[in-house]
Amino acid sequence: MFGRIAGFYDLLNHVLSLGLDIVWRQRMLDFLPPVENARVLDLAAGTMDVSRGVLKRLPNARIAATDICPPMLRQGLGKLDSLERTRIFPVAADGLALPFPDNTFHAATIAFGIRNINPRPPALAELARVLAPSGRLLVLEFGTASRPLFKGLYNVYLCRVLPLVGGLVSGDKKAYEYLAKTIQAFPPERTLALEMRRAGFAKVLHQPLTRGVVQLHVGVKP
Ligand SMILES: C[S@@+](CC[C@H](N)C(=O)[O-])C[C@H]1O[C@@H](n2cnc3c(N)ncnc32)[C@H](O)[C@@H]1O
Repeated sequence: MFGRIAGFYDLLNHVLSLGLDIVWRQRMLDFLPPVENARVLDLAAGTMDVSRGVLKRLPNARIAATDICPPMLRQGLGKLDSLERTRIFPVAADGLALPFPDNTFHAATIAFGIRNINPRPPALAELARVLAPSGRLLVLEFGTASRPLFKGLYNVYLCRVLPLVGGLVSGDKKAYEYLAKTIQAFPPERTLALEMRRAGFAKVLHQPLTRGVVQLHVGVKP
């Protein structure tokens, strides 16, 4: 499905979130550990906006932009300049079976991706496995919104506006109906925090962004 919409993905992200997706990713990147020559895993990297953001914050980092969908990675590769191409490496792989040795990365990011990987607990266990001790996991994912009125509006937006606009621009209404369904089916932030702890992460915290439309989760491998 992501392969079908890869060419429209960035534009629709920015339009449908009214540009807020850029702010949300920046907020996640604020939590990157300040490590020189860091090795960073960007899982579900898609078109690599997070990978590029990591490199801006940590110019000496090497980033494994990992995604199961090669068309999304190809779209991302097309955006990289020559310097970024020496630091960001596309890896086509499943988050449930990462092709990296244990204790490899200083940080791992996953933005709007954990929702798509099923089942979640083994994916979180894989992230814990490939992070080095003290390595930090940053997860950005849609939430359910907090206040009743705002939640109602958000649901109308998800179920009506998103498939309509997404369908018109990409020609693939089904993909945007799927997006709404996966957002609504995703568990509350406390459940994900619990799953992160069960996968072995410590110092787990979560922070609502834009009144809980998005949740940022942080955990550290002991
Ligand atoms: C909504 S996009 C997010 C892309 C990017 N992180 C961003 O912030 O825009 C979700 C991505 O998850 C990827 N994905 C889905 N299932 C996956 C899996 N099992 N392993 C790795 N990536 C997966 C999809 O191919 C897609 O590129």
